[in-house]
Amino acid sequence: MTLVTVDDTGGLGPVAVELAAGGGPVTPASRVMARAVGRCRAMLSGVGIDWGTGTGLLAIAASRIPAVERVVAIEFDQTAVETARRNVERNGAGGAVAVVRADLFTPCDEEGARVLEGVEATAGFMVANPPASDDQDGLGWRRRVLTEARRFLRPGATVLLQVSAHYGADRIRALGGAEGYRFVETVERSSWVPFDLGREDLRRALDVYVAEERRGGRPYRFRLAGGEEVDARSVAAGAGPPLTSWQAHRFEWIG
Ligand SMILES: C[S@@+](CC[C@H](N)C(=O)[O-])C[C@H]1O[C@@H](n2cnc3c(N)ncnc32)[C@H](O)[C@@H]1O
Repeated sequence: MTLVTVDDTGGLGPVAVELAAGGGPVTPASRVMARAVGRCRAMLSGVGIDWGTGTGLLAIAASRIPAVERVVAIEFDQTAVETARRNVERNGAGGAVAVVRADLFTPCDEEGARVLEGVEATAGFMVANPPASDDQDGLGWRRRVLTEARRFLRPGATVLLQVSAHYGADRIRALGGAEGYRFVETVERSSWVPFDLGREDLRRALDVYVAEERRGGRPYRFRLAGGEEVDARSVAAGAGPPLTSWQAHRFEWIG
């Protein structure tokens, strides 16, 4: 069992989590989101949702905000659900975090259905670090999460969403628009770090971006070591090792 301690949660104290086989590791994106939760504490209150909780890290951090009553942590992977529940207990957040097994927002059992029903139209916030998708422009999962979350959020709710810089500021700003969300600001960002094309998932993601650019979609915006900005097609053609920055953005659900 590997235990990872995330020290920087934007002032909410360290969170120690056992890694979830199905929910993946604690990544630089997870850490950026954990910092964003602490930094936005003044905007997070009442009942909240952590979509795709993985280890439970973001839900545990959010549950420490005094104005937060409860966090519903949603996860589909059964192993990750069990790991997140152990992590919640490990961090003394048992009374404040309910880990629910659900596919997107569709509960997998009766207890989950009861918990999710109780949150409908009342959640004051959602935090989400969704997976990349192989469809659309790579943000398909994020759109599905934003669309389905509308049923649970109350008007004015805050949404913290992880989207990396290479998607481009214009695409990120437009992301929530069709779904009734308003982009407010980028609250946290990492330094420029390699978008490692040795990783199979990132190589596949690059293929998705190239296809989107060829369809006439907005260009992606990677950086090169010299600071130059290049699109996905230039990266695929060998322009140089691409860099990106992991980012957390704040949206508001207009309702
Ligand atoms: C990128 S990880 C983020 C984990 C964690 N929130 C963090 O920031 O470290 C995305 C999570 O979404 C979960 N997930 C993927 N598809 C899902 C679905 N259909 N319904 C619920 N959760 C899902 C994955 O199992 C994974 O734990």
